[in-house]
Amino acid sequence: MKISVFGLGYVGCVSAACLAKVGHEVVGVDVNAVKVDLINAGKSPIVEKDIGQIISDTVTTDQYHPGQLSATTDTEKAVLQTDISLICVGTPSHENGSLKLDYVRRCASEIGHSLAKKKSYHVVVARSTMLPGSVEDVILSALEEASGKRVGEDFGIAMNPEFLRESTSVEDFFNPPMTVIGQYDQKSGDVLCEMYTFLEAPLERTDIKTAEMMKYACNCFHAAKVTFANEIGGICKTLGIDSHKVMEIFCMDDKLNISSYYLKPGFAFGGSCLPKDLRALTYKAKTQDVDVPLLNAILPSNKVQIERVVNKIIRSGTKRVGFVGLSFKAGTDDLRESPLVELVESLIGKGFQVKIFDRNVSLAKLFGANKEYIEKEIPHISMLMTGDIDELMAESDLIVIGNKAEEADYIMKNISSEKRVFDLVRIFKNLDDASSGYEGVCW
Ligand SMILES: NC(=O)c1ccc[n+]([C@@H]2O[C@H](COP(=O)([O-])OP(=O)(O)OC[C@H]3O[C@@H](n4cnc5c(N)ncnc54)[C@H](O)[C@@H]3O)[C@@H](O)[C@H]2O)c1
Repeated sequence: MKISVFGLGYVGCVSAACLAKVGHEVVGVDVNAVKVDLINAGKSPIVEKDIGQIISDTVTTDQYHPGQLSATTDTEKAVLQTDISLICVGTPSHENGSLKLDYVRRCASEIGHSLAKKKSYHVVVARSTMLPGSVEDVILSALEEASGKRVGEDFGIAMNPEFLRESTSVEDFFNPPMTVIGQYDQKSGDVLCEMYTFLEAPLERTDIKTAEMMKYACNCFHAAKVTFANEIGGICKTLGIDSHKVMEIFCMDDKLNISSYYLKPGFAFGGSCLPKDLRALTYKAKTQDVDVPLLNAILPSNKVQIERVVNKIIRSGTKRVGFVGLSFKAGTDDLRESPLVELVESLIGKGFQVKIFDRNVSLAKLFGANKEYIEKEIPHISMLMTGDIDELMAESDLIVIGNKAEEADYIMKNISSEKRVFDLVRIFKNLDDASSGYEGVCW
């Protein structure tokens, strides 16, 4: 394919060189003539393992041909001679932390002016990291305005976040964890897929905003991982424990630790272990004079998630609320530190009429280890329980799905259309299956 790459920094330079290495005809574009001259001289403008060799192998003075890399400051020439343009310019921070999109805007506008002179279909792909909405608000509108053409008809657009790490970027380019294509339409995505046929990594095609957001989720998670490990390390050091041994064993758990478990947005955590153990470790850190702001922020953040739901229910305008599920997860009757109990208590205190259905807790009320806890600690909540799901539906205007109770399905099939459902656990994988009165806590 014929590809133009805008911005010859880390991302652009590596993308341009590696795409040429696999046989594409690539032209790199930068406003910085020094970078352009360096590439045309077969030299790398960045310090990265293997990149110098790839550039010197792919830059030749022959006529353009597949597998060749060249560079220019001339946007129009680059757009006219290629089928697809990758935007890899910088997206730094403003002083106040907000995202600066000036370079992206200018680059898209320049590509747009060139598109005005182009007869054939062209796809513009954002590789720069940008907040959700940026591709459509900034790139798409700059392209349409400058070209006088219409996206979806004359040109396509896509978001293709980059996962390379500096220092191992060539290796990362050829072995990404996945390739994510956020496409404006099928045609845009198809053209971009063609560029990546050499990669074996799983390919995920999605919408543009999901691709934009996914990149931020990745980087924020990476930052949180580093900080988490450092805080655990800080505590370990004061206790004479080798933190690397701890984290080595920690990482052996690919069921709960290094896995998708606990990474599904939903309601607050609770139960007999997580809140108690967080409190104990952060208190210990305090006594050891180790500052652990990330660990300290977890319980307050969990509280905010409960308050968010309380406020949501208050704003719903209804006073009759039915809960399906009271224990912190389905399949258990353990109510210790259940955030749902806290939620119910908060609503009762604000004068709501609450009814609760939880098959396991109802059984526990009759016998079992939790009978005493229910009778002694939360008798006021126990009184609100019903064993009849139809009664709960009839006497509530808003149903809160609190855990993945098997009755959730029954409710969604039988609930009347004027009632509302607030889902804390994501009972539908596909939100198109949900009815009009349905709403999720963070989706
Ligand atoms: N560096 C990384 O490891 C990395 C990894 C993944 C994603 N990203 C993202 O990729 C984007 C680029 O990052 P980078 O580190 O390569 O940036 P960089 O600052 O190293 O390079 C950006 C280049 O764009 C050029 N440029 C600016 N305006 C231009 C224009 N109108 N036309 C052509 N060229 C122009 C600049 O001269 C510069 O050479 C950012 O959004 C960044 O967040 C970076």
